[in-house]
Amino acid sequence: MIKTLIAGNWKMNGLAGSIAQIETVAAKLKSPSETKSALLCVPATLIHRAAETARESALAIGGETCHPEVSGAHTGDISAEMLADAGASYVIVGHSERRADHGELNGTVASQAKAARRAGIVPIICIGESLEARDAGETLNVIEKQLGASVPGDFENETFVVAYEPIWAIGTGKVATVQQIDEVHNFLRAQLSQRFGDAGSRVQILYGGSMKPANAAEILAVENVNGGLIGGASLKAEDFLSIYETA
Ligand code: PGA
Repeated sequence: MIKTLIAGNWKMNGLAGSIAQIETVAAKLKSPSETKSALLCVPATLIHRAAETARESALAIGGETCHPEVSGAHTGDISAEMLADAGASYVIVGHSERRADHGELNGTVASQAKAARRAGIVPIICIGESLEARDAGETLNVIEKQLGASVPGDFENETFVVAYEPIWAIGTGKVATVQQIDEVHNFLRAQLSQRFGDAGSRVQILYGGSMKPANAAEILAVENVNGGLIGGASLKAEDFLSIYETA
């Protein structure tokens, strides 16, 4: 059995006042569950406070990106070691917004994923096709290439998570259909198993893109969907908890 991971992605949202949302989630998730876990990935400025707030709970805290190197002359960047030091246990890498806004390519994403493992935290490696690619019937080709190059070759003994996020479904309210999700997730599972054998059959594969309390149950019921990466609906404790309860 693969544990379900309900992960929030706050993106560039949240000030000190948002810690109250973390408090509410942490208060509900007092003890760990055998079947599912909860994670909130928050801006770097909030990680330490969020981690302190969630300390006595089953809620994990994560970052939203990291630099491949440990330290050095990279003004404004944050390493995986720094995230871990602040209290993060996961980090999102290769989100389509990072790929678009910062030109991050598959090779960079793979280096970031390696950096995460070096620092002892779990990378959530994001992939997903554009609307153009989907309309051109290129979805599986794009996904295959991204997965191939974004997951480091020597990751067979490493813990990592894959998130499938069709770009056209992110923040648009346009959720992929169950059939579309099913097709891509089965494809991803086959690719991971082929590449990493038994370990590949145990990798958590999350769906992301306009997931919310109203559609979470049907998405999470799809075979090979092992959780969700939730943007907008993770900002409010009530919505995030409602999705977690559905899982
Ligand atoms: P959304 O974002 O849930 O707001 O569509 C998902 C994501 O970008 O991770």
